[in-house]
Amino acid sequence: MDLMQQFTDYESQALAALQSAGTAEDLETVRIEFLGAKNGRMRDLQGLLGKATKEEKPLVGKRFNEVKEAVSAALEARRRVLSRPKSAASDLDITLPGIRPRVGRRHPLMQTIAEFKDIMGRFGFTVVEGPEIEDEFHNFNALNIPEDHPARDPLDMFYLAAANVSAGGAGAGGAMLLRSQTSTVQIRVMEQTPPPIRVISIGRVYRPDVIDATHHCMFHQMEGLMIGDTVNMAELKTVLRLFAEAYLGHEVTLRFRPSFFPFTEPSVEVDMSWEGMRGGWVEIGGAGMVDPNVLRAVGYDPEQVSGFAFGFGMERFCMRRHNIQDIRHFTNNDVKFLKQF
Ligand code: PHE
Repeated sequence: MDLMQQFTDYESQALAALQSAGTAEDLETVRIEFLGAKNGRMRDLQGLLGKATKEEKPLVGKRFNEVKEAVSAALEARRRVLSRPKSAASDLDITLPGIRPRVGRRHPLMQTIAEFKDIMGRFGFTVVEGPEIEDEFHNFNALNIPEDHPARDPLDMFYLAAANVSAGGAGAGGAMLLRSQTSTVQIRVMEQTPPPIRVISIGRVYRPDVIDATHHCMFHQMEGLMIGDTVNMAELKTVLRLFAEAYLGHEVTLRFRPSFFPFTEPSVEVDMSWEGMRGGWVEIGGAGMVDPNVLRAVGYDPEQVSGFAFGFGMERFCMRRHNIQDIRHFTNNDVKFLKQF
């Protein structure tokens, strides 16, 4: 069957030619040669069909159609390949498993700030902010810490060398320093707002401490301030306990030790029970009833209003809740640590 052989030859030559066409122009040349309506070889083959005998006809016709379809399909396939943009993407195998893009997440401390605000918000405290670069007036004087007080020792503070950096707020004077406590914000709020007051402020504070598992030269404090007609120590203790239990999600024992801060009277230091950590108790901050001198300094009448204030280290709460053994994890930027939150 000579005719059948011609079909087969035609088919293999056409497929090879299509495959080796490297550009759209090459492909068009091949198309005209093998499939062209006027002088293409497909037309010649079609002309031969008439020569088949009556018995041969069905078989030959069928084979002719097969070949025609196969070559047309190969032409289309090649056309699609050549029209793909020439880039790395053209070799992309979309059936391969992909690389999952790494999704970032909020830093555990940022999550903690959001939660602290949420919990205190439920107790009716609104959020205020103050500058991290402070003047001595707000960091000390207004907080009843006199000029010669040991707490002002430059060795215990980060004073700024530039004398005239301006404070974020009133700029009431004195040398500038990185605030060592968020109690500065108490003053800034009371200077501008008449009582009653119920605010918190969360932010960074700086102290040139020796860095170890529970101390850092930069950490976060949450300052709370509540001023009203009859605010008392019992309310302070209740707010602190409710806050600690809401954040930790279980009962926790707070221990109040008599202490001294120049801006509160009476003053307490607050510890939280923490099994397995340094003798079972960890200090979380200070608190007390706002000292009448401070109230007077901002123009309040200590006979009319009273209030409590507290300042908590935020990291230690977060460490306790997530069982983090070292405060340095927060600033080491180790993705293996961070991705757990
Ligand atoms: N500012 C104090 C500290 O940083 C804590 C404190 C805040 C104490 C408010 C009393 C009242 O140690």
